[in-house]
Amino acid sequence: MRAFSIFALLIATLAACGGGGDASGDSATATTSGAAASAAAGSFDPATITPAMLALGDSLFHGLIGATSCQACHGANGAQATVAPDLTDAEWLHSDGSWEGIHKTVVEGVMAPKQYTSMMPPYGGVPMTEEHTRAVTAYVYKLSHP
Ligand code: HEC
Repeated sequence: MRAFSIFALLIATLAACGGGGDASGDSATATTSGAAASAAAGSFDPATITPAMLALGDSLFHGLIGATSCQACHGANGAQATVAPDLTDAEWLHSDGSWEGIHKTVVEGVMAPKQYTSMMPPYGGVPMTEEHTRAVTAYVYKLSHP
């Protein structure tokens, strides 16, 4: 069990290093939102999260809209922590817990889990529009940043 975790961590670290270089070129132009934002999250000010965005994110998280249910793995309150990590605490395995970091995890999924045995497919299973991705990201962000 322990050996497996360390192995998984190693793979995750390698994967993180491999992907890290890609973003650097784009970040300078990330302030242009709109179409560019769908490729990379760009920067996002959590203060601009609206109640409507959160309501949409809530419905997406719970599988009421769209084909993916985040709660199937993360639990109805995001804190089930039996097959997937608690999303309500301050501990982050795959990012710094920023809005941008959470967005990246949702888009890319988790191919190399660090603590759990299951993977997370990109978008939790079924691709989402960028609008839906941003809404569910806002919802998850607010779970841990009330
Ligand atoms: C098939 C199960 C499954 C589904 C469905 C799923 N996840 Fe995950 N999620 C995981 C696993 C497994 C991990 C990483 C576990 C590990 O690294 O040990 C994870 C990690 C995460 C993380 C990173 C947590 C951290 O500590 O850095 C976020 C954020 C997240 N999921 C959000 C979502 C959202 C939003 C959805 C729905 C769009 C979703 N997940 C759907 C299984 C799932």
